[in-house]
Amino acid sequence: MTGDIELTGDTDLAAFVRGLPKAELHLHIEGTLEPEMLFELAGRNGVELPFTDEAAVRAAYSFTDLQSFLDIYYQGAAVLQTGQDFYDLMAAYLRRAHADGVRRAEMFFDPQTHTERGVGFDVFMEGFTSAMADAETATQISSGLIMCFLRHLPGEAACDTFRAAEAWLDRIIGVGLDSSEADHPPEEFAEAYAMARAAGLRPVAHAGEEGPPSYITGALDALGAERIDHGVRCEEDSALVRRLAEAQTPLTVCPLSNLALCVVDDLAGHNLKRLLDAGLKVTVNSDDPAYFGGYVADNYLAAASALGLTRAELAQCARNSLEASFAPADQKQAWLADLDAFLAPA
Ligand code: ADE
Ligand code: ZN
Repeated sequence: MTGDIELTGDTDLAAFVRGLPKAELHLHIEGTLEPEMLFELAGRNGVELPFTDEAAVRAAYSFTDLQSFLDIYYQGAAVLQTGQDFYDLMAAYLRRAHADGVRRAEMFFDPQTHTERGVGFDVFMEGFTSAMADAETATQISSGLIMCFLRHLPGEAACDTFRAAEAWLDRIIGVGLDSSEADHPPEEFAEAYAMARAAGLRPVAHAGEEGPPSYITGALDALGAERIDHGVRCEEDSALVRRLAEAQTPLTVCPLSNLALCVVDDLAGHNLKRLLDAGLKVTVNSDDPAYFGGYVADNYLAAASALGLTRAELAQCARNSLEASFAPADQKQAWLADLDAFLAPA
């Protein structure tokens, strides 16, 4: 439903977008590490960085594809060592998300990136969860954690990671699949996902970012994915587009990420609006905002400007995000009522 919504008042578009109650459903917490914090934590932990200053870091953020980004992203994550580091990272993101109108954030984290450096679940989970609780007390922002398996590592490593997370499963809402997509089909992770689903975790997966539409089908069929992260290459398979539309499978689309990683040549050529017009449940997200030049509201605004999205279409994306969230139904209803009230003030 993307019918015209007449809004009263002279709210400008940025204020409108920030005011829209929304959920962010595709956000890697390690991808919120801003250069300032990178240097601060490197200093705090005695980690040597291959950059002289923040400007040099930003200059290095010029990517040609997903892998060129991941190489820098994993390097950056090495400064995260103590519970306080993970707390600070999470607290900073949730402050920004709240300022962007986010009522609910469902955030990816990459345990294998940390455990392989000797930083265990107790360290990062303590840091993340205490920052999430403090943020909820301070701003009412609701949040949940989705544990991602790294797909450049074997399926068996994903199973081991799931077992290592056992003591923390009640603090994790779902599982995801990220990292290098090419040549790493979802089927390799079927066993880890089966264990996660049996434990009550909600399955999502990156698919169709760089990889082919068959990886989207594989994520749905072999992993039981309830949402597809990115999914923009679904357009190459018209039967898949129909399937996604009929099932109203949410796509967590990340326009500035797709631009930064050369998934699209320019934002005007992004298929977000076409997917919306085809009736897919499109949501707008930031992916790795510290690396791609914008948080969630910036993504709405960049898409609006490049694709000429109407306020009604932006509101539809926000509505989709709230509906697609894994929060309890009563909370979702309350946020959706807030959205309706925002769109049609009494
Ligand atoms: N890890 C962090 N960001 C990612 C992305 N956009 N795709 C795959 N893995 C990621
Ligand atoms: Zn991602």
